[in-house]
Amino acid sequence: MRFFCLFALLAPVDGAAPTYSRDVAPILFRHCGGCHRPGDVAPMSVLEYKSARPWAKSIREAVVSRRMPPWFADPSYGHFSNDARLSEAEIKTIREWVDAGAAEGDRAQLPPVPKFVKGWHLGDPDLVIDIGQDFQVKPGADDYQHFIVPARLAQGRWIRAVEFRPGNRAVVHHGHVNLVRGREEAGATTIESMTPLAKYLEREGSLTRVRADAPVLDDACVANAPDLPYLRGYQEGAFASFLPGRPPDVFAEGSAKWIPAGAQLEFVIHYARISGAPQTDRTSIGLYLAKDPEKILHRMDLRNFFFRIPPGAAAHTVRRCYEFEKDKLLLSITPHMHFRGKDVRYELIRPSGARETLLSVPGYHFDWQLVYRFAQPVRIEKGSRLEVTAHYDNSPNNKANPDSSAAIRWGDKSEEEMMTSWIEYFEAEPGRKPTAAGPSSN
Ligand code: HEC
Repeated sequence: MRFFCLFALLAPVDGAAPTYSRDVAPILFRHCGGCHRPGDVAPMSVLEYKSARPWAKSIREAVVSRRMPPWFADPSYGHFSNDARLSEAEIKTIREWVDAGAAEGDRAQLPPVPKFVKGWHLGDPDLVIDIGQDFQVKPGADDYQHFIVPARLAQGRWIRAVEFRPGNRAVVHHGHVNLVRGREEAGATTIESMTPLAKYLEREGSLTRVRADAPVLDDACVANAPDLPYLRGYQEGAFASFLPGRPPDVFAEGSAKWIPAGAQLEFVIHYARISGAPQTDRTSIGLYLAKDPEKILHRMDLRNFFFRIPPGAAAHTVRRCYEFEKDKLLLSITPHMHFRGKDVRYELIRPSGARETLLSVPGYHFDWQLVYRFAQPVRIEKGSRLEVTAHYDNSPNNKANPDSSAAIRWGDKSEEEMMTSWIEYFEAEPGRKPTAAGPSSN
């Protein structure tokens, strides 16, 4: 009896309470199915009524609180093509569906269930390259491994997309792929090769960190900053990356990256700490060839290696600036910090002095390292300055904080910190179109 009263109160006047088949499935398929499907990262599948129904209450809660889908950019700044947020109308539909009893409705009204290729999200790759061994991950500590394998290309190739496929999702936390010419050059874009930095570093097995007694520079934007390595300009970014919540690297429309003949690939894989039995991983990447690319896609990485976060600090500021040495078109920004990362903001100062915020992430989460892709490339003139301001929460109030009593410096380990931004861009004046023989040399 009570049920009927409640139902009568909440159902729309015409009796058409939202149903899964007609109203809710289209939303869930589109915004949730990429992760909430059998065999993927998220707990339940939303692709079927019977697997989604038991989660109806949590689904309502997760969408009303906007905890799902994961998206952390402040909507007051910038427009992003991969903005995952649901509209108010979509949230209302889900809320009303749950409040009215989460009915299935007429199955004939179901939209087509999205087809996900088993394994590769992007479909069958043109080339697959793996780490060359079944690597044993031992229980205990975090592990960073570098694997160098030949790409086995007789001729150079333009690549339009790269999918990084963890061999064992339970152990692969994240990873990067760099192009190197040989073992001697291994880590060309990684920490090993950063010779000027070497004297400030120490190693613990396969892990690297900045020494506790290295100089400290939290604000690398100050005019009289000491001349420490890698605080100006930028470094070439990795060829491709895999992070939790990050979709495969599909390069912007018409653009590509070049792999030269004879190239070797360096896989840098962060294996998460495991307990129990050892596990095996054989991670691979799928490469998708570009036919006739118009442009070259670039990625610059900006870092500050010299911050020090005091014990207990609740909002410690770390900054890094970059002056544009030529005109560029910015395509995306990926902020990267660890457990203590709290928020980060990207402000641009044009040569005219005009200041604008390109991206603000007020609630950063290590679990979700998202890429923010601009809806339109942002044109930036030479002489503009980008200011990256991040805050770290090393207080006991940060639930993710592994240890609030320690002073924290830069380090590979998740328990240490990073301050990195990856920025994809096109050159505003790209010169000649790339040819089948490789990047033109002007
Ligand atoms: C990018 C991948 C991704 C997308 C997109 C996504 N989810 Fe999730 N979701 C996850 C993962 C991973 C978890 C488990 C870890 C966690 O809770 O953070 C999760 C957890 C959940 C949970 C259970 C735990 C909780 O936090 O309440 C619900 C309910 C949920 N998601 C609903 C949704 C709905 C509804 C959508 C779409 C509107 C959606 N998710 C979109 C990845 C995703």
